[in-house]
Amino acid sequence: MMNPLKYAYLAVEGWFNVAFGSEWNPLYNMGRLAFFFFWIVLISGLYLFIFFDTSLSGAYASVEAITYEQKYFGGVMRSLHRYASDAAVITIILHMFREFALGRYNGVRWFSWLTGVPTLWFVITLGITGYWLVWDELGLYVAMLSSQLIDALPLIPGSMARNFVGTQVSDRFFTLMAFLHLLGQPLLLVFALWIHVKRLSFVKVNPPRGLAVGSLLAMLALSLAAPAVSHGPANSSQVTAVLNLDWFYLNVYPLMDYFSAGETWVITLGITFFLMVLPWLPPRKEGPAAEVHLDHCNGCEQCADDCPFDAITVQARTDGAKFENEVKVNPDLCASCGICVGSCPSSNPFRSKNDLLVTGIDMPNNPINDIRDEVDSAIARLKGNNKIIVMGCENALDFSSLEAPNMHVVSLFCIGMMPATLVEYALAHGADGVFISGCRTGDCFFRYGNVWMDERFDGERQPILRKRADRSRIKVFRAAETDSKELYKEIAEFENYIQSLSESNSSEQSEVVDA
Ligand code: HEM
Repeated sequence: MMNPLKYAYLAVEGWFNVAFGSEWNPLYNMGRLAFFFFWIVLISGLYLFIFFDTSLSGAYASVEAITYEQKYFGGVMRSLHRYASDAAVITIILHMFREFALGRYNGVRWFSWLTGVPTLWFVITLGITGYWLVWDELGLYVAMLSSQLIDALPLIPGSMARNFVGTQVSDRFFTLMAFLHLLGQPLLLVFALWIHVKRLSFVKVNPPRGLAVGSLLAMLALSLAAPAVSHGPANSSQVTAVLNLDWFYLNVYPLMDYFSAGETWVITLGITFFLMVLPWLPPRKEGPAAEVHLDHCNGCEQCADDCPFDAITVQARTDGAKFENEVKVNPDLCASCGICVGSCPSSNPFRSKNDLLVTGIDMPNNPINDIRDEVDSAIARLKGNNKIIVMGCENALDFSSLEAPNMHVVSLFCIGMMPATLVEYALAHGADGVFISGCRTGDCFFRYGNVWMDERFDGERQPILRKRADRSRIKVFRAAETDSKELYKEIAEFENYIQSLSESNSSEQSEVVDA
């Protein structure tokens, strides 16, 4: 049965696809949008820094001057800084939620997930020191409650919170906050993000241009419509009745109305710990890693180039063969997607040695030889003049219901696992049509499977689909679990189309015979 969370998320993504198109779908670009918002935060932050006074006595007045004395530049920059920071948190939370809802957080992805969780802390604490620096009533509230939290830890002797009562606030401590916010925390975040995406290949950190421009314009419009302003100046001898909290950053403090500082730590650390161990609750069972068959590997490196999880490395030849290099699979990084099988020129099904197709790199639990045998026996068994082979990605949708006397489904771990030549082979050996379905465009479960497939078909990535393959008999469709209705419609149209092609071919042939 389908996971209801996944179903709901895919349905929403489908609506966004209709509204934005798959390339600009913001839900496909959350991590990249977070990076983009950080750029806005960085650039606006550098501008604010020029005019910001890092001393306790001058901070508030300098922020007020930026906001009101240069309203249409400094004021907008300040608002951009705030709103882009909020947008970054929203996109990070959605990014995290998406990876979870779509089951992309465990198995080989445990590393990206685990290293993502601390980035949440780094981002939120960066926002906290930012609010602190304004040194208005909200800044004082943040400073006092943060100090109570720090005091609850057995780290620093004495009470930090006492610093904020009366007039004893330390200027040096404030300067330390400025240093943290302006340099220490951003550097830590950049380092954490570098680790976060370290195990992935082809990481794109920039959103598509249209989405970036649209987001920037939205931020600008918001900044002009509702400029960011400060509360009154910090006054530690007076209690402020109403504070406008930024719930994206300051969400932990209201907890302290109900819980002690110690309990607040237990709650926040508990949630963090729970998030961190999620990939193992329960652990994802992945198939065996890809295996290299050196006898059939010429060290061309295409599989290493294509692997989305950086699991394949190139090393000097170890078997004395005439080639310079060979490839090696790191089983800890291998997601068992099989994309490398589709990359290997030796997976060409037309090529056979003693009838057994052995390729340079293969999946032990679904070898290319078995896939070719399956295609052969299906073609021999199928009936009618519209024999169709469906090549389906098992992560996209359950295609098994398509099985029919004229149709057979070959289930693949990822559509990128399919050698392009297998399509040509099926057509050359008696299939009337090949229907291919991978994950939705812009959203491959294994990151790049459907992108590589498109490039192989377009002749832009080796090994290509050769020109001689009759493209009029090949249909590519993209689907997620929520798209079965569209799938049935597309497949019915394709069947009719293939049937009409076969009928017109046979009538042409009989005309030739008659003539
Ligand atoms: C500052 C915050 C973050 C940023 C900027 C960010 C950005 C990114 C980017 C750019 C990718 C690569 C996407 C791709 O090219 O396929 C990625 C992958 C990933 N992120 Fe984040 N991320 C952040 C926080 C998080 C958090 C908090 C989590 C979860 C706890 C998380 C979980 C993941 C996972 C599981 C992947 C791997 C996705 C895959 O293999 O398909 N990230 N992130």
